Amino acid sequence: MSASGIGAGFDPALIKGSDNFLQREFPMSAKNYQAISAKVYETSGIVLSETKQEMVYSRLARRIRALGMVNFNDYLSHVEQNINDECTSFLNSLTTNLTSFFREKHHFEYLQNTVIPALKAQHRIDKKIRVWCAAASTGEEPYSLAMVFQEAFPTVAKWDIKILASDIDSNVLQTANAGIYDHSSIEELSAERQRKWFRRIGDDKVEIHPGLKQLLTFRQLNLLDEWPMKNKFDVVFCRNVIIYFDKQTQKKLFSNIYQQMMAGSHLFIGHSESLHKVCDQFKGLGGTIYKHL
Ligand SMILES: C[S@@+](CC[C@H](N)C(=O)[O-])C[C@H]1O[C@@H](n2cnc3c(N)ncnc32)[C@H](O)[C@@H]1O
Repeated sequence: MSASGIGAGFDPALIKGSDNFLQREFPMSAKNYQAISAKVYETSGIVLSETKQEMVYSRLARRIRALGMVNFNDYLSHVEQNINDECTSFLNSLTTNLTSFFREKHHFEYLQNTVIPALKAQHRIDKKIRVWCAAASTGEEPYSLAMVFQEAFPTVAKWDIKILASDIDSNVLQTANAGIYDHSSIEELSAERQRKWFRRIGDDKVEIHPGLKQLLTFRQLNLLDEWPMKNKFDVVFCRNVIIYFDKQTQKKLFSNIYQQMMAGSHLFIGHSESLHKVCDQFKGLGGTIYKHL
């Protein structure tokens, strides 16, 4: 949708569950919602279905309130003109960032037991290993990758291992970069990992070991854009993000990811995601793990 949808008039008749909506602090018309969905799709590839209206309302209402505005029309004009980089805050408000350390732990086990031994067996002269965590969110996933690599390569300094951790959302990257988490987020990790990779700060917070940070580079990067990376990757984690994209966006994305990977390298996607009818250039290995052919 073009900008013409943004700033359109409030039409209560078009609002779903209008009784509830009309009592809300800021009226959100169907046209407003369509304009929001169109803007999110155009800038991030995220598809917002009709069922997401409540979530969208509550996330953006917070932003509208913070800006001292009084309605969605004014706010959407503000986003469209990208005043004070508002388009970034708009997107940051609407991304879903759920993640955890060693989420879908079979992927990390496969990495440790199969992928890393195979990489070691290649005896690369340059000792270079490149990993991309393409929807890194608040950092739990790339730090889990860093733990696995550090544990597998105790003499990590002799290797040239780098993990690129990227996300479209600038707020989550700040959290990732800070590397400070609630203690409760590491309770499922082994006592050894907790001791080795985290330092307790205060009663309920932990800080990531600086040794893990050494492997990581955090970058804001939109999966829809052209990417600046020159290197090809040995491992790509692109998990739990394509569920928000339509097939067309998924096809384009995996065709680009394929170009960005080494022959024989490995791709990991989320448990509810699939490359079926999206990209046939990878061989499925089961458990949403794929090999670049
Ligand atoms: C549900 S989280 C998944 C986090 C992690 N990969 C995991 O599986 O635990 C999805 C992440 O994808 C990011 N994202 C959404 N659209 C994106 C895009 N177009 N480019 C880059 N990241 C995007 C969101 O900001 C969010 O942090």
